[in-house]
Amino acid sequence: MAPATALIIGATGFVGGHLCELLATKHPQLRLLCLMRDTTPQKANDLNKLNPSVEIVEGTLEDSAIISAAAEKVDVVIHVAHSDYAPSVQAVLAGLRKRASTDSHRTPIYQHMSGLGVIADNVRGEKVDFVKEWTDVGFRLDDCPKDNTHLASDRQILEAGTRSQDGIQTAILFPGLIYGHGKTPRSGAWVPFYSTFAKAAGHAGTWGPVEVSQYCIHVRDVAAAVLCVLGYLLEDATRGGSDGLCKQIQLDDVLTRELIEDGCSLRDVPGTDHVMA
Ligand SMILES: NC(=O)c1ccc[n+]([C@@H]2O[C@H](COP(=O)([O-])OP(=O)(O)OC[C@H]3O[C@@H](n4cnc5c(N)ncnc54)[C@H](OP(=O)(O)O)[C@@H]3O)[C@@H](O)[C@H]2O)c1
Repeated sequence: MAPATALIIGATGFVGGHLCELLATKHPQLRLLCLMRDTTPQKANDLNKLNPSVEIVEGTLEDSAIISAAAEKVDVVIHVAHSDYAPSVQAVLAGLRKRASTDSHRTPIYQHMSGLGVIADNVRGEKVDFVKEWTDVGFRLDDCPKDNTHLASDRQILEAGTRSQDGIQTAILFPGLIYGHGKTPRSGAWVPFYSTFAKAAGHAGTWGPVEVSQYCIHVRDVAAAVLCVLGYLLEDATRGGSDGLCKQIQLDDVLTRELIEDGCSLRDVPGTDHVMA
């Protein structure tokens, strides 16, 4: 059964803007409640241009009662506002649990955007003897360095997704550094951040004397991944909960397919033959 209503938290953001636009194409029938702070007609209009199904719910992440009440009314909540503000996560879960306890026809869905900070080794350029390799196959939050960022929110979500009573299907996404252009006035913060340092130093480089690596991903791929995981949850192809940590997606293929659908010619792009076939 297709979802009828979704609550988007962070719709005016970098990821949220792309997500709203993609939802208009892939789920045009979906009624979208969007939490918005400091609402202005301009902000609301900008969002409506991306997705005409948007309805504004005025409030901030600190307004737990508003978030819970909105979550209780919807089939799906997608939180792409803040990976670390745990009270907003609690408010979403409280609302969805209430919904689950009163509506036995559909298990509510919660998708949350965390980040790869959960696996950071917190090295700052110094030499280390062992660098742990991570994979999303069999990934467990308990394996992450315990004081890492995002984990307080993520643990709550995992616990809610694995409960048998008043069940919620939960999925958490862990993007690396996100780049690209925003659909709203918000855009990727990291390229300007790093280029400011590079300009001041007169060269681009790494932190410290040893290799530094950080994964990055295009904002359109991140938004497409949210929709892809939503599709799996709706089709019951994943149960959410601990499964919702480990669904593997070929993100490059998602973006490539979209580019083809948008009429781009990929004949000269290496590595896309399998998608075009
Ligand atoms: N950007 C990255 O490189 C990156 C990497 C990994 C993970 N993430 C995670 O991915 C998610 C999306 O990131 P993003 O770059 O799209 O963020 P963003 O551009 O900063 O957007 C944040 C969104 O949340 C809203 N928001 C923030 N604080 C709020 C508050 N107190 N009350 C109400 N609304 C609030 C903002 O509203 P306004 O428009 O009113 O400000 C905006 O809609 C976040 O959870 C972030 O932690 C981001």
